[in-house]
Amino acid sequence: MWSVIRIAVVLELCLLILAVPLSEGVTSRLRNKKKATKETKESKEVNICDLERREAPFFCYCDNNGLRNASDTNCLIFNKFEEVNPLWSSFSSQIYIEKLTFTVRPDGSFTYIPTQVLKQLKNLHVFNIHYAKIHELVENVFSNLSSIVEINLSKNMISGIKRNAFNNMSNLTFINLDENQIVEVHRDCFVNLPMLKKLMVNRNNITVIYDKAFYYLNSLQELELNGNQINVITRDMFTGLRSLQKLDLRSNLISMIGESSFAEMPELQELELDQNQIKFISEKALAGMRNLKKLRLSENKLVALDADFLNEAPAIYFLDLRDNLLKTMTFDNVKPIVTNLYNNVSYFYLDGNKLTCDCKLAWIWGLRNETKNSKLREDLEELTCFLESKNASLKSVKDAERNSALAIARNPGRNNDYINNFKEKNVADEDYLEDGTDYEGYGNYDDLESKDTAKPPAKVEILDGKVGFIKQIFELKLEDLPCPEPSREDLMASEQPSSRHANAIGSSGIFFFSSGKAHNVNQSVLALSFLFTARFFT
Ligand SMILES: *[C@@H]1O[C@H](CO)[C@@H](O)[C@H](O)[C@H]1NC(C)=O
Ligand SMILES: *[C@@H]1O[C@H](CO)[C@@H](O)[C@H](O)[C@H]1NC(C)=O
Ligand SMILES: *[C@@H]1O[C@H](CO)[C@@H](O)[C@H](O)[C@H]1NC(C)=O
Ligand SMILES: *[C@@H]1O[C@H](CO)[C@@H](O)[C@H](O)[C@H]1NC(C)=O
Ligand SMILES: *[C@@H]1O[C@H](CO)[C@@H](O)[C@H](O)[C@H]1NC(C)=O
Repeated sequence: MWSVIRIAVVLELCLLILAVPLSEGVTSRLRNKKKATKETKESKEVNICDLERREAPFFCYCDNNGLRNASDTNCLIFNKFEEVNPLWSSFSSQIYIEKLTFTVRPDGSFTYIPTQVLKQLKNLHVFNIHYAKIHELVENVFSNLSSIVEINLSKNMISGIKRNAFNNMSNLTFINLDENQIVEVHRDCFVNLPMLKKLMVNRNNITVIYDKAFYYLNSLQELELNGNQINVITRDMFTGLRSLQKLDLRSNLISMIGESSFAEMPELQELELDQNQIKFISEKALAGMRNLKKLRLSENKLVALDADFLNEAPAIYFLDLRDNLLKTMTFDNVKPIVTNLYNNVSYFYLDGNKLTCDCKLAWIWGLRNETKNSKLREDLEELTCFLESKNASLKSVKDAERNSALAIARNPGRNNDYINNFKEKNVADEDYLEDGTDYEGYGNYDDLESKDTAKPPAKVEILDGKVGFIKQIFELKLEDLPCPEPSREDLMASEQPSSRHANAIGSSGIFFFSSGKAHNVNQSVLALSFLFTARFFT
């Protein structure tokens, strides 16, 4: 008897506890019921734009809350929200949604794409989901969703994409998969996407892209793979990308560019390879790239460029080679594109390299004269090169350091910046060098420098065991540039005038330059002037 009463009391308490959090929802539903007094059939339809927060594991903000009236809907997902939850069917209350965004609360555990819901929304153009823990895009997860134009899946911890994940989407133009954890791009993940124009897979962990991974993306114009760990690129990787205009491979681990790597992409206009580890570019790396206009190679490890590496990409007017280890850039290197650089809209960056001051750089004087692009001219004027000094021995640098330290000790207040600079960069006052700084074969250094006493002291540097000065290129006179003895290889090459030079100048067939072998400066200037005239009158 007592126990029965006790149970009843406990039950009542439980009901009370349950009723409290529901009460708000209940009253609002009652209100709605009153509104709909004339309706005989009570509608049980839940409007996802008008949810009570406690009822659902998600909450949506809509541009218009009326039934079947919302077009732009942003839903926050708070709690576990299983694929089988009947609330998903409530999306039929807003069947005309055009743009749907799911944002998962960071500590939530939402692990899937709600494919069934996407299928119901016949007007859906844009689908975004962020901060879910999706791990894998399963087979056919986006198949046949022909109304969707854009999909943004950035920041969802996706690490794998199964085959046919994106399949038969006739209106899809854009996919963003940035900031996931994708490791490999397999074949047949992106299939039958005739309108896809842009695919972004930046800042993932991609190490491998399988051959023909993009085989079906014949309309793709932009592919971004920035910030991955790709270390090898091959021609077959890009098979099918016959409309691609821009390829972003910045911040990867690529160390060399082999022959014809990009030949499958004849429409490519922009190739971005900055911030890799590139040491070597094959002579035929750019084969077939007649439309390439912009080539970015900054922050790599290039020491030398093959003489002909731009031959097959003559449309380039933007070339960025900043912050490499280039010792020189010859006229042969730039010849295929040099006239493009005369135009107002041209870019050519070469600073941050280890250029040696010698007559191989003579063409830079010519380019400065010929270009109409004042920005380019200014950039050229900033260029520096290393001028070896036969007399500034290692000992003299040591002495200079010691003397400088003494000077600092005597004069502690003076010019701290300069002192710091000295410590970091091995910079010393010209005065501290052993005197008689006479540069054999290229004039007296004192004459070049001492005219302008206001100038900062010349920088002494050691490069590959050689001691010398860092000079601004145009401080030097063209006639003063040293011309290294032609090496044995150069001499051998000079015995067989190559046809490429004849072609470059047209029918005249005059042969003037060969790689790394500008015999003397006057001759190269002559050659440059000739080229300019030849271009002008033909
Ligand atoms: C639906 O939207 C239209 C146009 O914006 C508006 O006139 C109409 O009142 C809305 N219906 C409801 C039920 O909110
Ligand atoms: C695809 O886009 C076209 C043009 O915008 C449109 O007419 C067509 O209805 C769309 N297809 C679907 C299934 O929405
Ligand atoms: C995609 O989503 C990210 C947020 O994760 C956002 O920054 C980006 O602008 C969105 N849109 C596009 C077009 O990428
Ligand atoms: C550049 O122009 C100056 C004067 O305008 C001329 O003296 C010099 O020879 C030119 N240099 C070259 C390399 O064309
Ligand atoms: C270098 O300096 C010494 C004396 O310090 C001088 O005799 C010599 O001519 C200078 N030039 C070269 C190329 O050694």
